[in-house]
Amino acid sequence: MKTIRLTIKDKNNSILASLREAGYELPAWCGGRGSCGKCGVRFISDAPPPCAGDRERFSDEEISAGWRLSCLTHAAGTFVLEIPESGEEMSRCSLPGDREDVSRKEDSQSGSKGQGILSGADRSHELALAVDLGTTTIAAALVEARQEPGQGPKILRTATTINRQRVYGADVLSRIDAANRGEGEKLKELAMEDISRLCRQLGCGSDVRDLAIPVIISANTTMGHLLQGLSCEKLGVYPYEPVDLSLHQYGGMTILPGISTYVGADIVSGIIACGIDRKEELSLLLDLGTNGEMVIGSRDGILAASAAAGPAFEGGNISCGVAGVPGAIDGVTIRDGKALISTIAAKPPIGLCGTGVLETVYELVREGIADRTGLMRQPWFEEGFPLAQDITFTAKDIREVQMAKAAIRAGIEILTESYGVSYDQIDRLYLAGGFGKKINCRKAVGIGMLPEELADRVTAVGNSSLMGAAMFAADPAVRERMDRVTKISREISLSNHRRFEDLYIDYMSL
Ligand code: FES
Repeated sequence: MKTIRLTIKDKNNSILASLREAGYELPAWCGGRGSCGKCGVRFISDAPPPCAGDRERFSDEEISAGWRLSCLTHAAGTFVLEIPESGEEMSRCSLPGDREDVSRKEDSQSGSKGQGILSGADRSHELALAVDLGTTTIAAALVEARQEPGQGPKILRTATTINRQRVYGADVLSRIDAANRGEGEKLKELAMEDISRLCRQLGCGSDVRDLAIPVIISANTTMGHLLQGLSCEKLGVYPYEPVDLSLHQYGGMTILPGISTYVGADIVSGIIACGIDRKEELSLLLDLGTNGEMVIGSRDGILAASAAAGPAFEGGNISCGVAGVPGAIDGVTIRDGKALISTIAAKPPIGLCGTGVLETVYELVREGIADRTGLMRQPWFEEGFPLAQDITFTAKDIREVQMAKAAIRAGIEILTESYGVSYDQIDRLYLAGGFGKKINCRKAVGIGMLPEELADRVTAVGNSSLMGAAMFAADPAVRERMDRVTKISREISLSNHRRFEDLYIDYMSL
């Protein structure tokens, strides 16, 4: 946390908006609707009266200490505030001094030299930059572009950063809303700056708009539109029409093609990365990022859908949720009412990432602390279940997970049925997304998120969107494959499906 002085003249502005105007970016996953609790700040003195949303979110002691949700607080005057450092979640869930700059850390983990220049060895090869522009995180890879058809990409270095657009909300709908309210230019600039930051970490230039090497962008449709400054007016309302899904050039970058507004280029890249478009065998691809996209098919045809699962499995909408950064709890076992946890990079715990969220729910049910309807026993119903100091899993968190996993599981069922097959006929389940890498399949099956029949056919593929973009950079034949994927893929709408509601309710059970 850092302490700042803020003068607000217009009382109609929320503290969150005033902070943003002053150049401070706070996490605001719900887009300022008062539901995510991520935008908390502490007034050192002269705290404005708390509103109902503050009372719901904070304890009496926290209210007295000056904690308020900045998106719901309106006041004029000069205030001294404690706010999270850039990239830090609300610190009630953190231990002071435990946070690290995520991008810097991942940079060093990935072996990036971070010196802003290519080494002599790098320069002697033909290089390209592949980018997965995700709603929550942005990943980039410096790729050795080989010209031999059929060869895989050689990835030299990778780097990851948090998408700073999340100050406008965690999900794509909040970003669409913000763009439609006139914030499109700022959103575009944030995306350009974030990608440029990754360029600097990878040592291939300082601004993505001026790179001397090819840049390949794999993004979901909304992120792609925001990056290009395209109108988002029709993205958020039926019939959800995008402006441009084609494979094209924009500002020196290659924008990969998408299938629809809710099945974007990131999924086309994932299909390529898993080779679904070439295989005779039947594959199911689940990309559990901020949206839950899913694909079933083979070289003969592909069916895709997007489940509005929400960001619970990325730590979003979870009271102590954080992204998959050092210190995030990613493993949980409960024994005799006590939690044993593991964290990313073995750092002191700062909150729960997606895998930690899933494991916590599984363990709470297994230990009988919560029942299959998601109801927690007392005293945990009131107080939440303690996982670590200042990190508690609440009854509302369980509800968020139930809703997310019910949407995913109902989606899998409808997609499989619409393709005219049963689970037995699916040869392989590819799990993609940050969550996919470390998922404990037994626990995912245990809470009913994945069908039991597929438990032994799971392959975790990590960031398949980034891999697909890297493959595009390395192999000219991938261009044709992507073109074909967009032609043989069809999208079905889950929300309009007659069975979705019933299945969703059935699968709320844990
Ligand atoms: S609660 Fe304020 S942005 Fe979500």
